[in-house]
Amino acid sequence: LENGLLRKPPMGWLAWERFRCNIDCSEDPKNCISEQLFMEMADRLAQDGWRDLGYVYLNIDDCWIGGRDAKGNLVPDRKRFPHGIAFLADYAHSLGLKLGIYEDLGNFTCMGYPGTLDKVVQDAQTFAEWKVDMLKLDGCYSTPQERAEGYPKMAAALNATGRPIAFSCSWPAYEGGLPPKVNYTLLADICNLWRNPMTSRTPGGVLSVLDWFVTHQDVLQPIAGPGHWNDPDMLLIGNFGLSFEQARAQMALWTVLAAPLFMSTDLRTISAQNMDILQNPLMIKINQDPLGIQGRRILKEKSHIEVYLRPLASEASAIVFFSRRMDMPYHYHSSLARLNFSSSVVYEAQDVYTGDIISGLQDKTNFTVIINPSGVVMWYLYPIRKLEIPQQ
Ligand code: GLA
Repeated sequence: LENGLLRKPPMGWLAWERFRCNIDCSEDPKNCISEQLFMEMADRLAQDGWRDLGYVYLNIDDCWIGGRDAKGNLVPDRKRFPHGIAFLADYAHSLGLKLGIYEDLGNFTCMGYPGTLDKVVQDAQTFAEWKVDMLKLDGCYSTPQERAEGYPKMAAALNATGRPIAFSCSWPAYEGGLPPKVNYTLLADICNLWRNPMTSRTPGGVLSVLDWFVTHQDVLQPIAGPGHWNDPDMLLIGNFGLSFEQARAQMALWTVLAAPLFMSTDLRTISAQNMDILQNPLMIKINQDPLGIQGRRILKEKSHIEVYLRPLASEASAIVFFSRRMDMPYHYHSSLARLNFSSSVVYEAQDVYTGDIISGLQDKTNFTVIINPSGVVMWYLYPIRKLEIPQQ
């Protein structure tokens, strides 16, 4: 969507994966979906280095709605959001953050709260009045026909408010994610990002999203770019499912796919190790590369090693060596020629996680990377000089 927003994949924090629809503030006051939770996460984003690295979106998900007032305007749950959403938006803005909100264009949200249905224009205006910066519009309890009308209608309604509001569409996930049911040209026109397949948020779920992205990369890869991104869904890093290696792998693979980086973890208690993964400056630089080209899987070896490549600005590339093995660290022998690099350039690589420099790489130079089971090695590869081609 050419609304000037999200020229780079959005980065931030989204409540859903970690805090779900926990609305029991008497039993669990620190973790229920409430104004206090969002203010505490805002404080952490601002104070613990996240914002300055680009994690600026603070996004509310389902279960914030209290109902509609006499005029049909959406109102938040009064007990859990006593000061209202405009107050939260002001709070986020005062810290240099942006506020995202959630609605659903069906009868109900996925958790059964009032949906937008016939109030698309009215709700868009409400979000703009509240100074919201992003809308995730879900698709539960809607028909294909309602979605086909509702998503473009909401895009137009948001645009008509005059407030820049990034638009995240769950639409394709409700249509199976693929053409002909999904029209990606239209999506790129009306949405800034979209969830492609339905995702299950487990370690196995991460692999199934990845497999789905790879299987359909010829369809998905060309459609992504500045202002319009495929969204393989939230990062699970920092929660209860992923091992250290799997967490590193998700971060590297999402980065190479030019995916939005939405964390959904408790930033008040996150471990230093997980923080290092999420706050790796070179990783973020790669994710936010100005060309905005989505990477692809370029090799699938019999050894269950896979190689992913994302072209970056200044003729650099990001390469992810991913191991699907479960046995032991694997010594993967390869060369740039095997990865289709040109023969007339000398490259250097920086290991994104260790910082190690591998210099003097020419196309035929044999190298070995040691990849842990279910883990990755990730390189930032850049040209050092061109070789002179000998005159014949
Ligand atoms: C759906 C979406 C999730 C989340 C929930 C909220 O399941 O896929 O991302 O928004 O709804 O109920």
